[in-house]
Amino acid sequence: MADQPPVVSVERLIVRYGDKTVLDGVNAAFCASEIRVILGGSGCGKTTLLRSIVGLIKPYSGRVRVFGRQLDDMESDADSAVLRRIGVLFQNGALLGSLTVAQNVALPLELHTDGPQKVVDERVRYKLAQVELPHAYGLFPGELSGGMRKRAALARALALDPPLLFCDEPSAGLDPVTSAGLDTLLLRLRETLGITVVVVTHELFSIEKIADKILFLHKGKALFDGPYSEARGIGEGPVADFFLRKETD
Ligand SMILES: Nc1ncnc2c1ncn2[C@@H]1O[C@H](COP(=O)(O)OP(=O)(O)OP(=O)(O)O)[C@@H](O)[C@H]1O
Ligand SMILES: [Mg+2]
Repeated sequence: MADQPPVVSVERLIVRYGDKTVLDGVNAAFCASEIRVILGGSGCGKTTLLRSIVGLIKPYSGRVRVFGRQLDDMESDADSAVLRRIGVLFQNGALLGSLTVAQNVALPLELHTDGPQKVVDERVRYKLAQVELPHAYGLFPGELSGGMRKRAALARALALDPPLLFCDEPSAGLDPVTSAGLDTLLLRLRETLGITVVVVTHELFSIEKIADKILFLHKGKALFDGPYSEARGIGEGPVADFFLRKETD
């Protein structure tokens, strides 16, 4: 709804690594229940933007608000309450190899809830069913295919029923059918739970299937922020080049 405050707002965000400026005054707002796709060339700062929003990177300047709150002290109860409402599927999956899939999915529940083991276990089974991976319960990450690993990591990201989910290249390295399955799952999560999903992807099929809105990063700025259909209508420049798979200067 137009008059609801955005779930995420980013204002004049500047992020630097040493003396290298990666984000140079990014403005953006993500609204409830939208699927937002972040696009831009490799190294343009997509992961950096996600990490800044979830508080893993401290910006040089600017403001990030999530659920109306500026995260500034990760140790504080108020900030950790916000962080509990965010699920993150990192670019490289990052399941713990020495734990089973079930133990991996249980981790956030054990860290942030104090329910009895039986309740945790029921929840883990439910989450694995949600990502269509019930049979992987007792397997170790090393025994899974790439697509299964992604879905297991997604089950873990969803363990606490976050209303906001970030996915950094969820379908990288997956075959088109598995990748389409992940897209369907994200759409279903948005439809059934109304969650806001922020996805970084380069896959044109995925973008076409899931994107409500696009944020296109280029040279440290948000070059485009608006509906997918509008992005597709752009005739020239980096956004058009991206969809045409053309090299941009
Ligand atoms: N921890 C870091 N220290 C120094 N430089 C970094 C660090 N992380 C990222 N960078 C640099 O910042 C720039 C943006 O990186 P980032 O990972 O955000 O890009 P990206 O858009 O996610 O790229 P990709 O599409 O390849 O994942 C790159 O030039 C990268 O080398
Ligand atoms: Mg990245």
